[in-house]
Amino acid sequence: MGETVLVTGGAGYIGSHTAYALITAGHKVVVVDNFVNSKPDALNVVSELTGAEIVVVEGDARDVKLLEHTMRDNEVTAVIHMAALKAVGESVEMPLEYYGNNLETAIATLDAMRNAGVWKFVFSSSATVYGDPESCPIPETAAIGATNPYGMTKEMIEVIIRDLAASDDRWKITSLRYFNPVGAHESGRIAEAPVGKPNNLMPMIMEVATGKRDKVMVFGNDWPTPDGTGVRDYIHIMDLVEGHVAAVEHLEQQDGYDVYNLGQGKGVSVLELIAAVEAATGKEIPYEVTDRRAGDIAECTADPTKANTVLGWKTTRTIAQASQDAWNSQSA
Ligand code: NAD
Ligand code: UFG
Repeated sequence: MGETVLVTGGAGYIGSHTAYALITAGHKVVVVDNFVNSKPDALNVVSELTGAEIVVVEGDARDVKLLEHTMRDNEVTAVIHMAALKAVGESVEMPLEYYGNNLETAIATLDAMRNAGVWKFVFSSSATVYGDPESCPIPETAAIGATNPYGMTKEMIEVIIRDLAASDDRWKITSLRYFNPVGAHESGRIAEAPVGKPNNLMPMIMEVATGKRDKVMVFGNDWPTPDGTGVRDYIHIMDLVEGHVAAVEHLEQQDGYDVYNLGQGKGVSVLELIAAVEAATGKEIPYEVTDRRAGDIAECTADPTKANTVLGWKTTRTIAQASQDAWNSQSA
């Protein structure tokens, strides 16, 4: 039977793509977003593409009453909690805003769920909880230890939901630790549109591809990696959001709390990603090597075996396809 899923922060990059995937899989979607880092447009496009109505409530995910009414009015049966501030560097400058927004939205959402009698919860966590990992690929059992306030909010919320699930066996809770989502829906009509200067590599490469910037600054080529540049596990956004559908659908059979990595299990360097975009777009992407970025790590790749076997989910798209889809969404 289809779920009615409240996606907090659902107007954002991952949320809007998740709405598409949920609707396509036969579920209904309700969104609460305050549009601090998004616009309603992406959800309008999702409605057009799917022919389905999405209930969009403009409001703050720290507002327990608003969330509770939204859940009751729409007969919500599960929640995916994405509302958060997500810029690592900014979180070092503004820790109070990050701890405030990210912890308060999570606690308010859980509080509202308990009031409304909704017990299925999926949390947008991050590979950043692994900090500087001892070895790669990283299994879920690896030690965690975030190295910045943003990452600490993810780590703290994971602790809160683990303890909550242990306190009352009606809760069914999953943390999804995302690696590096890139790309866009195949239509190119739902884009990643960061407000202000992009922090992440793919949006930065896209701004160079579209001519908005001259070159990509590569943060160090003296890392202990094959070509000296940072290695990450880039995952096509549509693969990532299909992982959310699998997680929501698995909750019925799950007891208590569990956690899954969502990644491809393949490492790609900065230079390899630039080359993939050049091949996909036929455009030259100039770059210049500069100093390492504070807080960066050499390598971060997932062991996705657990999600593959337990959730029955696998990535099917390549970096070449993600590069092509990212470009389509920017050039459209
Ligand atoms: P995004 O900024 O595009 O989306 C987050 C959404 O949350 C935005 O639409 C924003 O307006 C909304 N929001 C923030 N605070 C809110 C509040 N108080 N009330 C209501 N809405 C609020 O980011 P995204 O990339 O789509 O990320 C979604 C989730 O995934 C976040 O929790 C993020 O931390 C997590 N995540 C993202 C990445 C990544 O690389 N994009 C990696 C790991 C984890
Ligand atoms: N990089 C550059 N130039 C840039 C931007 C990035 O060389 O302009 C390099 C980085 O040094 C790193 C790689 O590209 O080696 C990827 O950097 P991103 O900023 O795109 O991604 P991170 O892996 O640093 O962090 C991202 C999110 C975090 C999240 C983490 C794991 O920003 O929030 O993935 O999911 F926690």
